[in-house]
Amino acid sequence: MRFPSVSLFALAIGAGVIPEALAWGAVGHEVVATIAQMHLHPSVMPKLCDILNYRGDCHLAPVAAWADRIRGQAKYRWTGPLHYIGATDDYPSSTCLFPGSNGWEGRTHINVLSGIRNTTNVLQEYEEFRRAGIDTANVETYVQDALKFLIHFLGDMHMPLHLTGRDRGGNGDKVSFDGRTTNLHSLWDGLLIAQRLRTLPSNYTKPLPIPEVEDNLRDTIYDPYIRRLVWEGLLGKYEDEVESWLTCPSPEPFQEVPTSTFQLIMSWMLRSSSSKDGGLGVDDEVLCPYHWAQPIHQLNCLIVFPKALDEPPYNSFSFDADEEESEGHVCGESNDHDFEDFLTSKAKKSRYLELDTPEYAGFIKEQWIVEKLLTQGGIRLAAVLNWLFAEPVEGELQKRFVSL
Ligand SMILES: *[C@@H]1O[C@H](CO)[C@@H](O)[C@H](O)[C@H]1NC(C)=O
Ligand SMILES: *[C@@H]1O[C@H](CO)[C@@H](O)[C@H](O)[C@H]1NC(C)=O
Repeated sequence: MRFPSVSLFALAIGAGVIPEALAWGAVGHEVVATIAQMHLHPSVMPKLCDILNYRGDCHLAPVAAWADRIRGQAKYRWTGPLHYIGATDDYPSSTCLFPGSNGWEGRTHINVLSGIRNTTNVLQEYEEFRRAGIDTANVETYVQDALKFLIHFLGDMHMPLHLTGRDRGGNGDKVSFDGRTTNLHSLWDGLLIAQRLRTLPSNYTKPLPIPEVEDNLRDTIYDPYIRRLVWEGLLGKYEDEVESWLTCPSPEPFQEVPTSTFQLIMSWMLRSSSSKDGGLGVDDEVLCPYHWAQPIHQLNCLIVFPKALDEPPYNSFSFDADEEESEGHVCGESNDHDFEDFLTSKAKKSRYLELDTPEYAGFIKEQWIVEKLLTQGGIRLAAVLNWLFAEPVEGELQKRFVSL
């Protein structure tokens, strides 16, 4: 029997020390990576550990937030825009485009969905070389980076605010949460999760009778949360829909049988330039980040951006002049102390729109919106990694998702 080293009780009474595992922004990514790890084909994890150069205890969670930690370094500065995507003129909740006729903001192919496609391609090529017995020693760092980015980007694309450019993904929208000033991005990145950790049913501090789950936990403060996502989510309310999370639209068949070579070429051209994946060229029948991202982007209009943000008195102060200067979406800009304040209940009266209300945070909690996103991220990451690396033994059903 194993128990989490830090009990939720300690957290609830306001422990002043935030455990390392709860460092800002990392929790969501680590939850996604841990759920993925539980669903990997047995042949996959050893290969990932090899790529990550792990000695001893190997987990995906510790590298899941690496991409946020290094993006400030000169060598990796170009990767900043890879964490998100935004359509031109997208302005939730009033205008919801993904994309509209003016396409995407920023540089072509430098966004989170292209990042997922490209890192997958890198890993696929590496695995082909490896299977063919070609020496891959000289590409180790490159491949390792690709894997760490892929783990991270699958998490990012399941955070709705990484799919809109409005106010730098909500970083510029000051809001109040339980009386404390924060911003919309931070709220979704961590405060909603932190609130969940504080109000978890106590029965999840005990291990589940499922070795695939327990063997992949690391005694972190969010272990009980993961148990709940598995027990009440994957084995409960999502049992019948998990498979649908992995489907991708199949390519459109020819409208009519082409009668000439010319027609054949024309219809092929029209098909390959179709905007089925928003013109990004990232989707195929197995991996379709654009298709998966569409309903997640919709959440920005349905719930993430409250209408009151664009109505008096709140519409007058969503941007501070100095903040307009900073570039792109940033996770964890000023958030460390937000998170700490929240956990230690340091009271502060905020003048911004309060979102810890039954209509907002209460609704999101009741609908399991954050929980579903984290779980989907984990399942899809597992599916991609299994598809890339699994070597099913003879007679074994080739499943991309190994059910518990
Ligand atoms: C992905 O690959 C394409 C084609 O090689 C390239 O143009 C693009 O910049 C790459 N994007 C990323 C995010 O690496
Ligand atoms: C824990 O308690 C909740 C009710 O609060 C229940 O729905 C759930 O099934 C319980 N989980 C386990 C693992 O017993």
